[in-house]
Amino acid sequence: MNAVVREVSPDDYEALVAFWAKIDGIELDSTETQERFQFFLMRNKGKSFLVIENGEIVGACLASHNGRRGFLNHLAVAPTHRRKGLARKLVDSCLQKLQSDGIRKIYAVLLKDNTEGQAFWKHMGWSQHHEYLMMSIEKDITRSID
Ligand SMILES: CC(C)(COP(=O)(O)OP(=O)(O)OC[C@H]1O[C@@H](n2cnc3c(N)ncnc32)[C@H](O)[C@@H]1OP(=O)(O)O)[C@@H](O)C(=O)NCCC(=O)NCCS
Repeated sequence: MNAVVREVSPDDYEALVAFWAKIDGIELDSTETQERFQFFLMRNKGKSFLVIENGEIVGACLASHNGRRGFLNHLAVAPTHRRKGLARKLVDSCLQKLQSDGIRKIYAVLLKDNTEGQAFWKHMGWSQHHEYLMMSIEKDITRSID
């Protein structure tokens, strides 16, 4: 395996969306535009990583924080490349960046019915929060970068 881990760059948007679209357990919604993706990377510079092999993305993880808490989203490895330690490398790379910004508490966000994903995080030593439930709202925006 000739896979290389590197930081996600704004130019990776299209290839990443195409990669995630093929992964069961990852859901992309209409808010994930190229402009939002680039804004996300600008606000969280150098914290997200992908794995590339022969020019193809075979793994990725987005990392961010809000100054208090960190978040990992869209962790995925291509089915052909699983169980080779790539997700561990991606998670470690993201966590190092968050830790170096002083972030101690980090959340991984995943779909409730993603039992495989939950088994992975538990194996990695993460625990499920039973006392929290995520609520959300969608609002009209008052300033557009799109
Ligand atoms: C979950 C996923 C990212 C794991 O990727 P991977 O590259 O195969 O994982 P790794 O090889 O780095 O595994 C790291 C460790 O976790 C274990 N592991 C991997 N997948 C596991 C699973 N589904 N259940 C339990 N343990 C798992 C590995 O055996 C390994 O253990 P070890 O280091 O102690 O030997 C991958 O299966 C995937 O993309 N799934 C679909 C998307 C998804 O569910 N993402 C997570 C939620 S956002």
